[in-house]
Amino acid sequence: MKRLLLVGAALALVATTNVQAGPREDIVALLMAEASAEDAAFAGFSGERGQILFSSNFNTGKPETPSCTSCHSTSPQNMGETRAGKPIEPIAVSKTPERFTDPEKVEKWFRRNCRSVIGRECTALEKGDFITYMMSQ
Ligand code: HEC
Repeated sequence: MKRLLLVGAALALVATTNVQAGPREDIVALLMAEASAEDAAFAGFSGERGQILFSSNFNTGKPETPSCTSCHSTSPQNMGETRAGKPIEPIAVSKTPERFTDPEKVEKWFRRNCRSVIGRECTALEKGDFITYMMSQ
């Protein structure tokens, strides 16, 4: 009985690990393919560029949201807040493990937030850099 429970726990662990690691890797792999298509000189994503993207003041989008940090707070590990004051779970993967695991959610929010902050959609390179940075946080 005890052994069965142990096996069950191990299987459950494997299942959750897959749910958390697989989809995010798929999303990053797809972005890599897109980034190479956008630029033949593409040489991989960079967490450093992702950090710059996250914390830059663009001032090319909506005046009230010059930066990703306008809503996600200046530290990816902290809670953020929408303009209406609604809490946003930390964007860092270590704090919110389900981040960047749902392709539709990822696309929807990149589209909306890049338009608000930068005034255009993000490139595949920018998306991959951003996710790479958040995976290190
Ligand atoms: C106006 C407020 C606001 C700004 C500015 C903002 N975000 Fe967000 N972001 C949100 C909200 C709200 C969500 C959805 C709620 C959640 O995921 O907790 C979200 C979610 C996301 C997600 C989905 C993450 C996931 O769980 O898969 C991505 C990606 C994202 N934002 C990227 C960005 C980037 C990149 C910028 C800067 C260019 C940015 N955001 C700026 C409010 C904002």
